[in-house]
Amino acid sequence: MVELVKSGIEGLDAMLFGGFPKGNQVMIGGGPGAGKTLMSFEYLYHGAKEGERGIFFALEEEPERVIQNIKAAFPNFGDIDELIGSGMITVHGKDLLQEIVNKYEQTGLEFGKVVAEMEETLVKSGASRAVVDSSAAFELLIKDPVVYRRSMWSLAANFRRLGVTAMLVSEIPDPDRKKLVFKTEHFIFDGMILLYQSGEESRRVYTLEIIKMRGYKHSFVTAPYDITPDGFSVMAPELITR
Ligand SMILES: Nc1ncnc2c1ncn2[C@@H]1O[C@H](COP(=O)(O)OP(=O)(O)OP(=O)(O)O)[C@@H](O)[C@H]1O
Ligand SMILES: [Mg+2]
Repeated sequence: MVELVKSGIEGLDAMLFGGFPKGNQVMIGGGPGAGKTLMSFEYLYHGAKEGERGIFFALEEEPERVIQNIKAAFPNFGDIDELIGSGMITVHGKDLLQEIVNKYEQTGLEFGKVVAEMEETLVKSGASRAVVDSSAAFELLIKDPVVYRRSMWSLAANFRRLGVTAMLVSEIPDPDRKKLVFKTEHFIFDGMILLYQSGEESRRVYTLEIIKMRGYKHSFVTAPYDITPDGFSVMAPELITR
C-alpha cells in the first residue's frame, strides 16, 4: 500500500485518488499568475491544520510579501498567522538564498552546498511538507545545463531521502497546452501538475492537468479550476483512468 499525503485542495485529491505518494517530489508548472505560489502554499496550509509541519522556500520574494498575497487571496484561511507563529508553517524568503550565496562567494558556489544548506534548514524546521518557489532562481545561479540537471536531481533526491513530500514550482514560458515545451526538471521529479491558461477572445480559461505521478495512478482529465476565498476549487470531472 502506498502511503498518501493529502493535498487538501478541493478536487485535486479526487484527481489523485487520495493524494500524493509520500516522499514524491511534485513539480507544479504554469505561466505567470496561474496560481503556482497560492496552490503550493495551500498544500502546506492543509498539512499544518492536520499537524504536519511545512516549510516554504520563496527564493525570489520577501516572506512578508508572500504571506500578504496569500492572505489577500484566501481571506477565509483566518489562522495563517497562528500557524506561522506556532512554527507549523515556516516561510523563508530570498534572503536565505542570498545568505548562502554570500557565504560561499569566496570559496566558489557549488549547488551541492545550496542544497545542503536548504536541507539543513528543512531538517531544523521539522517539516514533512516543503515548497520551493521557484526553480527559476536556481537557473539564474547555474548556467551549465548539465550541472543544473544534476543539481535539481540532487535536490529532489535529498528531499525524498528525508521522506519530505514537496511541491517545486516551475515557470512555463508558454502555458498553452498545445504549445508545451518540457524542461529538464520536468523529467527529474516524480510528479508533475500543470496549470494551463488558454486564450479565449474575452476571457482567459484556467485548467489543471496531472501529467505524471510516479508509482501511482491518477486522473488523465484536464479540469478547470478557480481561486476562491476558501482556497482552490478544482472542478474534477468524471474521473477517467488509463
Ligand atoms: N484575492 C484574490 N481573489 C481571486 N484571485 C486572486 C486573488 N488574489 C490573487 N488572485 C489570483 O491569483 C493569481 C496569483 O497567484 P500566484 O501568485 O499563486 O501565481 P503564480 O503562478 O505564482 O504567479 P508568478 O509566476 O507571477 O509567481 C492572480 O494573478 C489572480 O489571478
Ligand atoms: Mg509565484
